[in-house]
Amino acid sequence: MQIGSISIPSSPVLALAPMAGYTDAALRTLIAARGADLVFSELSSAAALSRAADGKQTNPKATDSIIQVGAGGITGIQVFGSSEREVGEAVARLRSLIESGECKARLIDINYGCPAPKVTRNGSGSALLQDEKKVAAVAEAAVKAAGSIPVTAKIRLGWRSKNNVQVARALEQVGIAAITVHGRTAAQKFSGKSDWNSIGEVVRAVSVPVFGNGDVKEPADVQRICEVSGCPGVMVGRAALSNPLFFSQARQYLQHGRFEPTTWNDKLVFMREYLALMPRYGLAFHLAKELSMQLATGLRGSAKMRGELMKAKDGPELMAVMERPAGARKGGEGLPPS
Ligand SMILES: Cc1cc2nc3c(=O)[nH]c(=O)nc-3n(C[C@H](O)[C@H](O)[C@H](O)COP(=O)(O)O)c2cc1C
Repeated sequence: MQIGSISIPSSPVLALAPMAGYTDAALRTLIAARGADLVFSELSSAAALSRAADGKQTNPKATDSIIQVGAGGITGIQVFGSSEREVGEAVARLRSLIESGECKARLIDINYGCPAPKVTRNGSGSALLQDEKKVAAVAEAAVKAAGSIPVTAKIRLGWRSKNNVQVARALEQVGIAAITVHGRTAAQKFSGKSDWNSIGEVVRAVSVPVFGNGDVKEPADVQRICEVSGCPGVMVGRAALSNPLFFSQARQYLQHGRFEPTTWNDKLVFMREYLALMPRYGLAFHLAKELSMQLATGLRGSAKMRGELMKAKDGPELMAVMERPAGARKGGEGLPPS
């Protein structure tokens, strides 16, 4: 796959979805090491980034954490904003950080998918989908400001009703290098099912690479979404939080039609590695708790464990909860079949 100047040899290309509160630099590093070709930061505010560009920023840490990039994988930084000016300025700031080597990201992604009222209220995220001209204007400003850095876009099928094809064509026309489609409208939020056929409409309408997204829940779904939609890339969110081996298993499945299941021990190793990386990126402890609760998903007795994880005050306490009672979970016992 070619995303602007970036070549990625895998087929399909596998990407970790941006997820607010989870996809920090430590998690992205660990998931890239386990098979994701591309990893995306959570959405960050173009307004905050452009304030930083003006030198008016009040809290430098807010943007410092955005630009942190771990080792491995190709990282995209995601930005949301409501106007050409705001997004253009934010992208220009990111470009200078990337060109100076302060930020090791290789892509900039524009968010056209977030349905959260605190984002759409200002006309950002999925609210932009209501006006295809606005979609294009924002994307064009980003592409111009980014210079040679590829700009990608992440969309939903529409605001209340579908305009996926019109939006995708508008994005392609102004130079967006790849498009991720989450197969739901903004009005659906996370209800219903991701419509992989509608993702296929976008694949057929544009010539830039398309990532299919939504409800890819198990490794075999990677093959299914590619078959249904024809997408050359697949983006996975929630399933990769509860199963950190998701991407390597998807590759095993594509090659051999089967994969090695995840054991509880694999998750313990993942959690220990995450805790060890946190200081490097100055990450707050609550992020480790959130991740641990995701890892406990599907475990027999997970409700009780979550309650205990909530009370953990530091890494050793968190690990003690996850490791107890080790005997009951030996060899992954207690995990559902993957
Ligand atoms: C906790 C959480 C946070 C998310 N944050 C973002 C975000 O910052 N930017 C974005 O474009 N999408 C965000 N999403 C949406 C995901 O990127 C993805 O499109 C969605 O979860 C569907 O994919 P999945 O079924 O593989 O999880 C978020 C989803 C979740 C569950």
